[in-house]
Amino acid sequence: MVQSIGSKKLKVAVFISGKGSNLKSLIKFSKLKKSPIMINLIISNNPKSKGLNYANKFQIKKKIFNFDKKFYEKKILYELKKNNVDLICLAGFMKILSKNFIKKFKGIILNIHPSLLPKFKGLNTHAKAIKNKEKYSGCTVHMVTSKLDSGKIIIQKKVTINKQDTPKTLAKKVLAEEHKLYPKAILKIINP
Ligand code: GRF
Repeated sequence: MVQSIGSKKLKVAVFISGKGSNLKSLIKFSKLKKSPIMINLIISNNPKSKGLNYANKFQIKKKIFNFDKKFYEKKILYELKKNNVDLICLAGFMKILSKNFIKKFKGIILNIHPSLLPKFKGLNTHAKAIKNKEKYSGCTVHMVTSKLDSGKIIIQKKVTINKQDTPKTLAKKVLAEEHKLYPKAILKIINP
């Protein structure tokens, strides 16, 4: 999917809204000697995102945008272009990007979702999976299109749901797998 990057690393922008534990795992991945990526931008819609602390800690440029203000998409697109971003990783990002934004950004956009898509799109996935008496849940990395949680699936990881699981315990198990899955998905789009 990514034609050829030669020896050049892919420039990645990570979009976050909250804790940023997936961001942390992506930063860790980017620091590996042979990593194919470098994270050069962190974007958040939420100035209180705990994940923004990683920007300071690892000296990565961060930008906060108010998604209720006019022209915010234009400003984000400008920032992405300025930083030569090839790949956007949405990681716990709680806003929906518009059709226009997705069309205008010329690189790839990935998202990580805490369910085995196409099951349980949207929010509260763990509660939905338990309520539905599923034996398994998991996580999915997929391409972002204008339809919510519906783009091409890159990779998934299954997790067993036990009788004792609550949405909280399931979220914890799935999140641990998310941290391993996102780097794998990036490797997969580079070397399909
Ligand atoms: C993750 O389960 C992610 O898939 C979901 O939000 C959770 C928190 O992610 N969308 P993070 O710790 O902010 O990366």
